[in-house]
Amino acid sequence: MKTILIAPCILIAVLACVVVGCRMFAKRSTEATVPLAAKLEGKIAIVYFSQSKVGNTALVAKWIQKHAGGDLVPLEPAAPYPEPYGETLKAANAEHAAGTHPPLKPFPPLEGYDIVFIGAPIWYGTYAAPLATFFDGEKLAGKTVVPFCTHGGGGAGRFFDDVRKACPAAKVLDGLALRGSNQIERRLDIGVSSHHIEDDVVEWLNRIFKEQTGIKEKTAMNDGIYQFTVKGRKGEDVPLADYKGKVLLVVNTATRCGFTPQYEGLEAMYERVKGRGFELLDFPCNQFGGQAPGTEDEIHTFCVLNYKTAFPQFAKVEVNGENAAPLFKFLTANTKFEGFPQDGKIAPILEKMLGEADPDYAKKSSIKWNFTKFLIGRDGRVIKRFEPTAPLAQVEAAIENALAERN
Ligand SMILES: Cc1cc2nc3c(=O)[nH]c(=O)nc-3n(C[C@H](O)[C@H](O)[C@H](O)COP(=O)(O)O)c2cc1C
Repeated sequence: MKTILIAPCILIAVLACVVVGCRMFAKRSTEATVPLAAKLEGKIAIVYFSQSKVGNTALVAKWIQKHAGGDLVPLEPAAPYPEPYGETLKAANAEHAAGTHPPLKPFPPLEGYDIVFIGAPIWYGTYAAPLATFFDGEKLAGKTVVPFCTHGGGGAGRFFDDVRKACPAAKVLDGLALRGSNQIERRLDIGVSSHHIEDDVVEWLNRIFKEQTGIKEKTAMNDGIYQFTVKGRKGEDVPLADYKGKVLLVVNTATRCGFTPQYEGLEAMYERVKGRGFELLDFPCNQFGGQAPGTEDEIHTFCVLNYKTAFPQFAKVEVNGENAAPLFKFLTANTKFEGFPQDGKIAPILEKMLGEADPDYAKKSSIKWNFTKFLIGRDGRVIKRFEPTAPLAQVEAAIENALAERN
């Protein structure tokens, strides 16, 4: 009877903790990014039309330039659309009804460019009229074309299909569509940008250019995690090369999370496998709902007192975003999020919460929550990533497999 009452209480407490955590997760984590500009080969142009100099599409174009490099090529109608939105709408409506598109001011030739980003606002379900004029004169044969658009809530419509049709001899990569009016803040003029949307742009750039940058990433991957030095609990430097030849499980942890009781299972597992060339590396992280508050010492005391943890615990780190520890940038750059294993309890709640914070969260390789685990082989390379809801028995089985492999 007692068990019957306690079990639901624990479940409710765990769910509440995860829910509260998710709600507190107001600032979406930024992505682990690898600077692209340094890695892309080929000359880049960012061609775009935007209704004004501080328009949504102009802002996205500037972010692309910031992260991928290249030259901005704004397209300007010879007779500018009138500035007030209502007047632009009237003029555009008239053009649309007549099936015409406006002549453009001259812009630099694009022959010397290999990668051409092409951006426009969505007008009437496809690219804005000035882009139609652009495509009349430019076929972009043999170039890599990267389309992007902003819209007022109606989505990309026919934009991507129409871009493909307009330049049939180009290699057209997956495009990006961003909702303009209420997501992208029109603040370029005061130098403030919307970081969340900028993150989306960076994630997209990294994703579409993965193939192109793959060779360099693979080289870095060959050095595995031994290329990194992390901070120990007391702030000392710990080269991960110290763990060469061992199978490792890297975990981002938190002490006030619904998943915190996983410490118990992790410690039990650690005791079973540690003597056989295994080490568990515990990195507390306060980025998910602020669920790892306190100092390193406080966190450590909590873990030892409550869960008798004996594995190495390191200094608190950030695992996502620009300030993420290089180890975690590497881990997320070399793994994918493949969904939360369904545990019948928390996975759907996490999915809902994360989806509300960012509809594209599942496409990104960022760490989603506390107690994500990365299994590293004896050669320092990532073997597998486990989401927090993955059963520990699965993790342990994978560790056993890795231990059995001699390399
Ligand atoms: C003439 C006109 C037509 C538009 N048609 C659409 C549309 O079909 N679907 C949509 O979601 N937004 C539509 N919008 C909204 C714009 O796509 C959106 O505000 C965009 O982010 C503006 O980008 P900009 O600031 O770079 O000009 C339209 C706007 C204008 C002015």
